[in-house]
Amino acid sequence: MADSPVRMRPEIAALPAYKQGRQAVADGYKLSSNENPFGPLAEIVEAVGRAEVNRYPDASGPALREQLGARFGVSAQEVHLGAGSVALLSQFLLAVCEPGSEVVYAWRSFEAYPGLVTVAGGTSVQVPLDAEARHDLDAMADAITDRTRAVIVCTPNNPTGPIVTAAAFERFMARVPADLLVLLDEAYFEFVRDPEAVDGSTLIGRHPNLVLLRTFSKAWGLAGLRLGYAIGPEHLLDAARAVAVPLSVTGQAQLAGSVALEHEDLLLARVEDIVGTRTRLVDGLRGLGFTVPDAQGNFVWLPLGDRTAAADDVFHEHGVVVRAFPGDGVRISIGEHESVARVLEAAAAL
Ligand SMILES: Cc1ncc(COP(=O)(O)O)c(C=O)c1O
Repeated sequence: MADSPVRMRPEIAALPAYKQGRQAVADGYKLSSNENPFGPLAEIVEAVGRAEVNRYPDASGPALREQLGARFGVSAQEVHLGAGSVALLSQFLLAVCEPGSEVVYAWRSFEAYPGLVTVAGGTSVQVPLDAEARHDLDAMADAITDRTRAVIVCTPNNPTGPIVTAAAFERFMARVPADLLVLLDEAYFEFVRDPEAVDGSTLIGRHPNLVLLRTFSKAWGLAGLRLGYAIGPEHLLDAARAVAVPLSVTGQAQLAGSVALEHEDLLLARVEDIVGTRTRLVDGLRGLGFTVPDAQGNFVWLPLGDRTAAADDVFHEHGVVVRAFPGDGVRISIGEHESVARVLEAAAAL
């Protein structure tokens, strides 16, 4: 990009493109993108086939918003759909940031946050996680200035795993000015088993500045269709709707989301199965002597520091594709049952 005569925003010219995890290896396990190892239900495949692809969708998804609204006890206007929750994050940041705006979030956290903030014209203020790889909400509240336009709280935190407790989040909200947008990113909510964890749905209607973000990509197994949703006060969602790329939530995604909700029991039984696999993997890794922070999403974190790049190669040699953050650690998604033995074999070789 440096040689192009075309003038660009300098911060965009300097911005690396979002890097996906490595793709699958033959006879191996792709555990690099926190995907759901279960394939789609037949009913979902059928629903996707029903969508009229020669027509534009009604991208606001009124039927699905009604359905979600009924689940969460809110009106359809208090639900907003996006092509993945990452699209929603982007919309809210675009809606609140102007040059000089700051966005506070924990670090390390979801790797898309820095780029989304830069694209929105804001500046990232990254607050280090504590020694147990958890959000330090006191430090995050201390980092708020009159330039701050949004705070993102990710629970459970990707890639490290721990949740934010309900009590800590409540104390945090009491310190946050009411004119500052708080995005509670609960992409992995359904995998949480810690009873102390915050559940954004219990906070609906209590804070005029709080928006919950959830997704069909993880627990509901629809990552490839791109569907997420926000729940929050209507005027905040209207701002996101105003900046959304028109017509980006497909009819297929909406129908699939709706059918997934109708099969909640089946899909949440799969989530329970994934949680069981998570327990086996965490126990196995700890048994090998690794430090593993509390894993409440569909992934585990190995804080390997300088050994990360070498560990990534060892996993790869064993046919396990993990997500490595050089110098920091390795995130391993919870995959097929059989992947546990392979991951432990590779880990033992580290
Ligand atoms: C914390 C977090 N938020 C949001 C997302 C975005 O998910 P999607 O856009 O598929 O809904 C992810 C995906 O990995 C994530 O880890």
